[in-house]
Amino acid sequence: MSFSLKNVISIKDFSKDDINFILKQAEEMEPVARSQKMSQTMAGKILGMMFYEPSTRTRLSFETSMKRLGGGVIGFAETGASSVTKGENLADTTRMVAEYADALVIRHNLEGAARYVSDIVDVPVINAGDGAGQHPTQTLLDLYTMKRVFGKIKGLNVALIGDLKYGRTVHSLSYALGMFGAKMSFVSPPELRMPQETLHDLKGANAVTQETNDINNVLDEVDVLYVTRIQKERFPDPEEYLRIKGAYLINSELLKGKDLIVMHPLPRVDEITPDVDDTKYGKYFEQAFYGVPVRMALLDALIKSFE
Ligand code: NCD
Repeated sequence: MSFSLKNVISIKDFSKDDINFILKQAEEMEPVARSQKMSQTMAGKILGMMFYEPSTRTRLSFETSMKRLGGGVIGFAETGASSVTKGENLADTTRMVAEYADALVIRHNLEGAARYVSDIVDVPVINAGDGAGQHPTQTLLDLYTMKRVFGKIKGLNVALIGDLKYGRTVHSLSYALGMFGAKMSFVSPPELRMPQETLHDLKGANAVTQETNDINNVLDEVDVLYVTRIQKERFPDPEEYLRIKGAYLINSELLKGKDLIVMHPLPRVDEITPDVDDTKYGKYFEQAFYGVPVRMALLDALIKSFE
């Protein structure tokens, strides 16, 4: 097993081997992520963070990962405190951060932004979310969580629920689940269906998928309910958001007697009630923790192979 990528832009760039490599390495990283073991593999290395959109878990887990490996972190968590507010363009800002850092993590509201900057700089670039596009590192931790819970991904039955149109986590995840032979149900209001392009690609890859707008159609057959937030900030029309919000509500009553786990990339708004949090179903906080060992594995692989 080895890792062949220089940049992490889309999950479509990964081979199965690349993904398996990261998932395996992440297991080794878990004791370091839990502070039970020390590591200095990134000592002397700097990670540059460019966040043009809000983030809690992705940014903090990247920072934690780099620091747990003995490395350092620079960058900005919002554009307000950077020269972006003075009118500096994305290319110039990126070039500068790349001069200071050994790898870049970028989150941007525009689809394609990460790919664009990866063509400008020499250091590895990691896409931490580009508009409604892709969020490949979230997918790696989602796969890791499923593997940790079920011991495998192949053959799992996974329902992706909520905003499948604008949600970048489900765009990335569906490709990977298809690659690993999981079955997928896409549960959304008709207005927020999985994009045609993704459906087409999945079909071409022989992935087994079905679509429905009624969660009750899938509750008895799925192993994983992967719930997502309706992406308010991406709606061109606020009225439409108001009409659709609250389309699905996952509570412990709905889950009673079911044999499944509930995942969510977080943040949740109102789609999962807090009474699910401490049940055997709720895996989303554990899932968020796995972002650390998975991102440690990724940083280690990328920065070492770039040396
Ligand atoms: C997601 C994102 O930013 O796409 N958050 C995350 O990284 N865990 C999901 C979301 O914002 O709904």
